[in-house]
Amino acid sequence: MKIIAGNWKFNKELRNLEKAINFVEALEEKISGFNNVEVKIFPHDSVLPQLAKKVEKIKIGAQDIHWEEDGSFTGAPFSAKDLISMGVKEVLIGHSETRAYFGVTDEKVSLKLKAALNDGIIPTICIGEDIEEKERGETEGVLRRQIEKGILPALAIYREQFSENSSLQNEVKSKSSFMLAYEPLYAIAGFAKLRGLEPKSAQIGDIKPAIGIIRKTFSENGYPEIKILYGGSSNPENARELLSHPCIDGLLLGTASWNFGSFFEMIKVAEEISLI
Ligand code: PGA
Repeated sequence: MKIIAGNWKFNKELRNLEKAINFVEALEEKISGFNNVEVKIFPHDSVLPQLAKKVEKIKIGAQDIHWEEDGSFTGAPFSAKDLISMGVKEVLIGHSETRAYFGVTDEKVSLKLKAALNDGIIPTICIGEDIEEKERGETEGVLRRQIEKGILPALAIYREQFSENSSLQNEVKSKSSFMLAYEPLYAIAGFAKLRGLEPKSAQIGDIKPAIGIIRKTFSENGYPEIKILYGGSSNPENARELLSHPCIDGLLLGTASWNFGSFFEMIKVAEEISLI
């Protein structure tokens, strides 16, 4: 089963509650007969609790969480416990825009990840290198650093904490308790535009080895089966090609998920490909 996740970021239209609800309700209806694709939406916090109440099939997640539950943290996003009380069970962690604009480091990724896992929220953890790092041949080093500093310690603590409980241990090892999104920064539309470049997806020739490095690093550390999404300028034109590669379990979309037609188009492609 392929996954199509839409990150609504700070899109102004979709921070309008009425429009956001219409979008989600219409999509629920359109995908009601789909059984082979998992659809997720990460709306802005301003509409998150209301959307969480509207969905049956679509999974609603937050774009970020704060690692603490309480205290003097002006501007912090919701805590993991807040999400639970709203019925939200998914979260993005370490998205490159939170890293670039809001100071999210590997250490903070680790804290957020611990908070999410502790409350049973499924995190989609975003990692990826930038163009300069890629050109210097540092892709493997960057990905390994992000995994080893930001992700593995949090997963290990969680596993240890439940070492008495083998079913929970298996759960954290299993594919469904967390997923990764490989998002090379140079392919993300917002960053490309900032540089005055036309947004362009990464080449499959670059995506495959990067995903290979991620899988190998996790496998070496006792996580042989993980789900990995690709993110960065995916759109209805390239979705079929990207989703046909067995190494890609799904797509994390930004811009293309803001438009109902293109989002649905890509969900349809994923449904068809999963059936093959
Ligand atoms: P994009 O964003 O699809 O607009 O490039 C992807 C992402 O940031 O997850």
